[in-house]
Amino acid sequence: MTTIEATDVHEILKKHQLTDGMDIVLDLEQSTGPWVHDSRSGDKFLDCFTCYASWPLGYNHPGLNEASFEKELLTVAKANPSNCDLYSSHMASFVDAFATHVSPEGFDHHFWVAGGSLAVENCMKAAFDWKARKLGRTNFHDNVNDLMIVHFDHAFHGRSGYTLSVTNTLPDKVGLFPKFHWPRISSPACEYDHDGNICNDVEALEHQALAELRAFHESWSRRGNYKHIAAILIEPN
Ligand SMILES: Cc1ncc(COP(=O)(O)O)c(C=O)c1O
Repeated sequence: MTTIEATDVHEILKKHQLTDGMDIVLDLEQSTGPWVHDSRSGDKFLDCFTCYASWPLGYNHPGLNEASFEKELLTVAKANPSNCDLYSSHMASFVDAFATHVSPEGFDHHFWVAGGSLAVENCMKAAFDWKARKLGRTNFHDNVNDLMIVHFDHAFHGRSGYTLSVTNTLPDKVGLFPKFHWPRISSPACEYDHDGNICNDVEALEHQALAELRAFHESWSRRGNYKHIAAILIEPN
């Protein structure tokens, strides 16, 4: 068990890393369902954040506290093997449960990756691979920089290599890194009034987005510089 007092948590972390996170100390034992317990103040807060949706079951879901599940989790966490090379019955049981309870019908094959940026990045790699083969490319030395990802304004897709080229929410997080210049289209996002009704002309924005995409296409063609769209990246929030 940790012996660090809740009142010392931020100070200790501050000595060794950036601490621009929330001004509470998450109590992993007392937080339940949608309620985050702050072990420093003793207050609890309704969680409208869910760790960016990576905590979809809420805190301390009773199913996660079952002894048999805890035992299995510990066995697997202690080993953390490279599952692409070494298979275990734990892995087969997870994959089978996921494939039969979570995956939509028609999606028979899975690619496992932890983290949003790497998930998006691997989708882009799959799209590039698909497009390159569709174009008949097999020579690994050819210039392939004519493949692109169409993406939108106001989009957050992560901050790994490829995703830096398509994330455009906070300039100070992406501004100093070299990027691919792929077409960025204005985002036809809905705006809602206080009653939940759409209050902007989304259809006009969609026409605008299509016009921008056509304009990109024409400007490449005019310059004799044909580019191929490998994918359109959309992550609605
Ligand atoms: C829509 C979206 N895409 C990608 C990411 C990147 O995920 P990660 O921070 O796990 O790399 C996030 C993270 O918040 C996200 O909200």
